[in-house]
Amino acid sequence: MSVTQLLQPDGRGIQDAAQLLRDGQLVAFPTETVYGLGADACNGQAVAGIYEAKGRPSFNPLIVHVGSLEEASALVELPVVLHDLAQAFWPGPLTLVAPLRSGTGLSELVSAGLPTVAVRVPANPLAKALIEAFGGPVAAPSANISGQISPTRAAHVMSGLNGRIGAVLDGGPCDVGLESTIIGSSGEAVVLLRPGGLPREVIEDAIGLVLQSPEDGHIQAPGQLTSHYAPNAGLRLNVDVPLEGEAYLAFGNGSGFGNCLDLSASGDLREAAANLFSHLRALDEMVHVEGLVGIAAAPVPDFGLGLAINDRLTRAAAER
Ligand code: TXA
Ligand code: MG
Repeated sequence: MSVTQLLQPDGRGIQDAAQLLRDGQLVAFPTETVYGLGADACNGQAVAGIYEAKGRPSFNPLIVHVGSLEEASALVELPVVLHDLAQAFWPGPLTLVAPLRSGTGLSELVSAGLPTVAVRVPANPLAKALIEAFGGPVAAPSANISGQISPTRAAHVMSGLNGRIGAVLDGGPCDVGLESTIIGSSGEAVVLLRPGGLPREVIEDAIGLVLQSPEDGHIQAPGQLTSHYAPNAGLRLNVDVPLEGEAYLAFGNGSGFGNCLDLSASGDLREAAANLFSHLRALDEMVHVEGLVGIAAAPVPDFGLGLAINDRLTRAAAER
């Protein structure tokens, strides 16, 4: 991608942005917290493009932006206490992490293979208009290069991502300027996963409970998500030719092998990223059903999205 369009905050700009999302492109848009880098949350290759554009070296799960509590409830099973918080503070700078429902169509890259997903209803009028015009869930991390500061103006987005994404919808400066507060739950405990634009005291007053911290062992903190999906079967890495009885996760070299799924027959890293979690799951199931000895994975080049793919494969091979 070479030219990043700067779209104006009017009906035309919103329609153009929605069309780019439908075309599988990336669009940065303003929310009341910070600018998000949006993609169609149900399009695995578009979601892979987010990681590619940001240069993220690992698959950190993303926040799914929707237009209403009803739309959020179609994606996740909100426990009563989180549902209460949603009613009190949505639309607004609050993200809720809850168990993912089945059959939502969300790309597995959005939740990075976790059984939970983060959802939020933003309040910014342009964000709302874009989500409505697009007509589906929008996955969006902050619209900055990985490791840099979150952008609160269209110009900040441009300075990091110009030429790497389809467009920026210019909505001027963000009101809050801080990322959303992230809340999850575990049994009776309500857990503050990330402090942010909605103060903890305000949340505690609303539910009459003290928020727990992730270190209390309740839930995984962002950035330390060790319980990412790992297969039950053993996983061997950098295998050019699998052993007899192994299921094989190929990368462009799958033809001729049995019990094999290819991440991308053409060796495309974006396609490979989009397939990674579902292929691992399917091979794990195959090992179980066919009584195979384990999974072998082909080498994946260690650049671009290959870094994140290899990070995930390495963890999946190590976690036992
Ligand atoms: O204000 C915001 O939240 C902005 C705007 C664009 O909505 N978005 C944002 O996204 O800050 P990002 O990707 O920069 O941060 C999302 C955080 C990450 O730390 C991630 O680990 C955490 O949310 N997260 C996402 N899904 C999670 C899950 N299932 N469990 C725990 N943490 C999760
Ligand atoms: Mg961020």
